[in-house]
Amino acid sequence: MSAENKAVDLQAGGNKEPIPQGPVLVVGGAGYIGSHTVRQLDQAGVEVVVLDDLSTGHRESIADLDKRGAFEEVSLADRTAVDDVFARRKPVGVIHFAAKCYVGESVENPSKYYRENVTYTWNLLEAMRTAHCRDIVFSSSCATYGNPVEIPMTDNHPQDPISPYGRTKLHMEHMMDDYARAYDIRFAALRYFNAAGAALAGGLGEDHHPETHLIPLILQVAQGKREEILIFGDDYDTPDGTCIRDYIHVEDLGDAHLRALSFLQSGSERIACNLGTGHGYSVQEVIQAARDVTQHAIPARIVGRRAGDPPRLVSGGTIATEVLGWTARHSQLRDILRDAWAFHSKFPAGYASSTDKS
Ligand code: UFG
Repeated sequence: MSAENKAVDLQAGGNKEPIPQGPVLVVGGAGYIGSHTVRQLDQAGVEVVVLDDLSTGHRESIADLDKRGAFEEVSLADRTAVDDVFARRKPVGVIHFAAKCYVGESVENPSKYYRENVTYTWNLLEAMRTAHCRDIVFSSSCATYGNPVEIPMTDNHPQDPISPYGRTKLHMEHMMDDYARAYDIRFAALRYFNAAGAALAGGLGEDHHPETHLIPLILQVAQGKREEILIFGDDYDTPDGTCIRDYIHVEDLGDAHLRALSFLQSGSERIACNLGTGHGYSVQEVIQAARDVTQHAIPARIVGRRAGDPPRLVSGGTIATEVLGWTARHSQLRDILRDAWAFHSKFPAGYASSTDKS
C-alpha cells in the first residue's frame, strides 16, 4: 500500500491547519482509545459527534460531549439509525474505533466477531457512501500481521493473522481498501501495537470488563484488588524468558488519529502504518517498572504460556513518522505506568467510581 510522502499540518499537537472543516463522527468514541482521541479532537477545536452503543464504552468518558448533545447512543447494527445520524450530523469524516477486541473470546465465539467487527463496519461504510462522507480513519491492529516473520515488524510486514480477532480486523482493512478503490472513500489504517496508559490531564483511562491486559492487571495487584500477577510463560526465546511487547501511550495513539484525519482531509487517498515505539519490554520488565512507579511490592507468579502469544511484537514502522510527522512523545514505559496508575488511583473501581454520572 502506498502513501504520499507528505508531512501533515494540523492544529493538534501544536501544529497549524488544516483541521476538519465540519463535524467528525467518532464511532466507538466512548471506549478506551476512542475517548482519549475525542478529548484531543475537542481540545483542538474540532467539532466532534460520538456514536457508541455503550456495550463496552463508558458514558462517563464522554460526559462533556453528552452534556452538549454531541453523543448518539446508537448501534452500528441499526443501519436506519446510523443513516439518520449521518443525515442530521453531516460529518465530514469518521474515526472508527468500534470493535470487539478479545483474542481469546474471538477464538471461542468467532460469530460475534464477524458480525460485530465485519458486518457492522459494512453498515458504517454503506452509510458513509449514502451520505457522501469520504474519509475514514480506522483503528487497526498489529494482530493483522500474525506471527512475526521479522523483528522489528515493518509497516509492510505480511498480514497473516492467527486469531479470528486479527482476521476480522484484516477483513475490515480489506473492505475499506476495496471501497476506496471503487468509490469516493479515502482511508487510513492505523495498526496499533500495545495500547496503554491514560490521559495526561487525568479523568480518562483503561476500564475493560473483563480486564485481560497486562498493565491494568498489574496495577490492580498494586491496588490490592488482586493478590498476584500471573506471568504467562518464562520459557520464551527472550533475554528473561517472558514475552516482549511494544507499549504505546494512548495519548500518542490519539495524536496519530488526528494527524491521519488531516492527511485524508488534505486530499491524500490512503495510508496504512504501524503505531509503536520500536522498543519492546518484557513482562518481567513491565512488572518491575510498575513496582518502581507505584512503590508497591506486586507479587508475581510464573504459570504456563497463554495460547497464541508470540514471543516478541515490536514495531519497526517508519511511515507514521515520515508521512504523518508523528512521534511517540509520551510512551516511555514509566510515563505510561505513571499515567495509568494516576487513573487507577483516582478511580479504583474504574468509571463506576467516577462522581460524574450525568
Ligand atoms: N500477560 C501476562 N499476564 C497477564 C496478562 C498478560 O503475562 O495477566 C502477558 C501476555 O502473555 C503478553 C503480554 O503480557 O505476553 C501482553 O499481554 P496483553 O494481553 O496486555 O496484550 P497482547 O500483547 O496479548 O494483546 C495486544 C492487544 C490486542 C491485540 C494483540 C495482538 O492488546 O488487542 O496485542 O497480538 F489483539
